Amino acid sequence: MTETSLFENAHIVLRDNEFHGWVAVNGGLIVDMGEGRAPERGTDCRGDILAPGFVELHTDHLESHLRPRPKVDWPTRMSIVAYDAQMVASGITTVFDSVRVGNDADYVPKRNEAKELVGEIAAAAKEGVLRARHRTHLRCEICSDDAIESAGDVMGAHRVDLISLMDHTPGARQFASIEAWKTYYGGKSGLPESQLQTLMDRKHELFKKNYTIHRAALVAMAHQNGVTIASHDDTNLEHVEESIADKVRLAEFPTSILAARLSHQAGISVLMGAPNVVRGGSHSGNVAAEALARDGVLDILSSDYVPASLLMGAFGLAHRIEGYGLPRAICTISYNPARAAGIQDRGEIAIGQAADLVRIMQPDRGPVVREVYRDGVRVF
Ligand SMILES: [Fe+2]
Repeated sequence: MTETSLFENAHIVLRDNEFHGWVAVNGGLIVDMGEGRAPERGTDCRGDILAPGFVELHTDHLESHLRPRPKVDWPTRMSIVAYDAQMVASGITTVFDSVRVGNDADYVPKRNEAKELVGEIAAAAKEGVLRARHRTHLRCEICSDDAIESAGDVMGAHRVDLISLMDHTPGARQFASIEAWKTYYGGKSGLPESQLQTLMDRKHELFKKNYTIHRAALVAMAHQNGVTIASHDDTNLEHVEESIADKVRLAEFPTSILAARLSHQAGISVLMGAPNVVRGGSHSGNVAAEALARDGVLDILSSDYVPASLLMGAFGLAHRIEGYGLPRAICTISYNPARAAGIQDRGEIAIGQAADLVRIMQPDRGPVVREVYRDGVRVF
């Protein structure tokens, strides 16, 4: 029998309740909890919030460690370790590393890049040098000529936990506005206007040639391997019907309130970017995440390109939307993403769940992650 450790004098956030009290942990699990004074002394949380460890389903932050500048490749192992540290420092105890396959205008992966990267993360985890639990989210740019082959390479070599089906053809979905597409890809690729037009024409050709065939093949591969499927940037009824037919479980970044409502009603969890909440809107000019939360159809927040945005986004919802409440807001970054991705053993503070815990202090200028525990062990 291992020793029980206690967190006392904490503001504990459950799935549907919050109270001042204590939590007991033993063998990596939450074994007991109560209101008021703890039965014995433990870690004094000094009134700080104690929340479940955050579950991040879609972060592309690893890319900014691997390529800190255009054409600069940083050593892979050091990039993974630094990225992992940033995840836990943001309160994230389970992270789905989003790894891209298929070319897009702003990112052309090298041959076998995704397969090797997933292998490196798995090796680092096996050696015990990582703090968060890592899972694999394969982001498939489905219109790319090499999408099927590259996704097959990764799935043949490693466990994949989530696949998202992305289509960034200009004029549709995320980039319904051609101007927004030009701003985004012109900025990221540095291409002049004349070359952007050629690239746009090429993207339209690839859509016609590959979209239907590649999507069907990727959906079949996912179902054969028991992998959760996410749709990406759904905009209209047709997109959502396609998602329902493909047995999609998650709708990443729907771009309209219609697509979000239809997805949510169909039991597809709606995921939006936490930076969108923090900034007060979408950088691509699409629907605001806060509007979906007010409409009752937002299920999950993801830190997307800024890890620290997860905590800021959840607190933003709790503070700005009357009646929303902290438990519901924290669910968007813990319980809801865990369950949508098929994780049952963590994601909430409840007896029998893994002791993934985040201690959060609340100074005047916003919440700060103070301590993080994974399976009862302090990792930050
Ligand atoms: Fe997108």
